[in-house]
Amino acid sequence: MNVRHFLTLDDLNHDELRQVLARARRLKEARARSEPVLTLQNRVLGMIFEKASTRTRVSFEAGMAQLGGHAIFLSPRDTQLGRGEPIADSARVLSRMVDVIMIRAHRHADIEEFARYSRVPVINALTEKFHPCQLLADVMTYEEHRGSIQGKTVAWVGDGFNMCNTFINAAQVFDFKLNIASPADYAPDADMLAAAAGRVTFSHDPVQACTDADLVVTDVWTSMGQEEENERRLRDFAGFNVTETLMSRARADALFMHCLPAHRGEEVEAGVIDGRWSVVWNEAENRLHTQKALLEFLLDVPF
Ligand code: CP
Ligand code: NVA
Repeated sequence: MNVRHFLTLDDLNHDELRQVLARARRLKEARARSEPVLTLQNRVLGMIFEKASTRTRVSFEAGMAQLGGHAIFLSPRDTQLGRGEPIADSARVLSRMVDVIMIRAHRHADIEEFARYSRVPVINALTEKFHPCQLLADVMTYEEHRGSIQGKTVAWVGDGFNMCNTFINAAQVFDFKLNIASPADYAPDADMLAAAAGRVTFSHDPVQACTDADLVVTDVWTSMGQEEENERRLRDFAGFNVTETLMSRARADALFMHCLPAHRGEEVEAGVIDGRWSVVWNEAENRLHTQKALLEFLLDVPF
């Protein structure tokens, strides 16, 4: 059987993504009842992090432990990957030792190359192009609070970077409308926008994007790896912050989400992220449940 990877949301079809989300809800309920679920006993996850992480690392590591398996944290600083061992060689070796590999990388092309040479499933834990694990948690969180996301309107305010691209994928597979508002030089991937025309609109106007939205989402203005652009970005993103005034343009029952970490006073006002719209803590928790379900799915574990 072919090895299944999760490099973008498109690697699973709609029914498979729905199966993962349904299982995530059951795993969350089981955990709330303190009921042990030991579906990944003797399985090992390798976790390669080229960039910092709090949520992704802890949710994958805790998730493996809760399912009876084990996770190994691998930093390029401490492995031969960081000393120039070829990606293909590292993939061949590691995938003979562990059962599944999760990678947070600077370059999406690198995880694609890793996956080509891996005998075991590879999971994208964030690249400059996509963050598909975050979208599993985001869709689960929206639906816990408001029911199906199908047919709803999501507003994206801010950088057209990895999270925004992944929302474009999600709009297509989960069938919701997505209004993106970004500054001129920070548009999402042009080919993706064109392919999603009809479901996705793009403008430079946050008010237009948020009007009557069911969900408003943003992300940091300066992503990991862009730190030297921080000053320019603070200027360029002025006016693209999610304020209480902006939220008042959305529907009365609109929710606010942010993948975190957040910068209060930059992309989001404290009154929004700490206010009545925000579901960000549940969103962060759901990384745990959705990734446990994803690991089971990719390892073809019966549940
Ligand atoms: N949202 C997210 O991926 O957070 P971390 O960078 O802390 O993993
Ligand atoms: N866009 C952010 C997301 C962090 C989870 C980054 O790439 O740093």
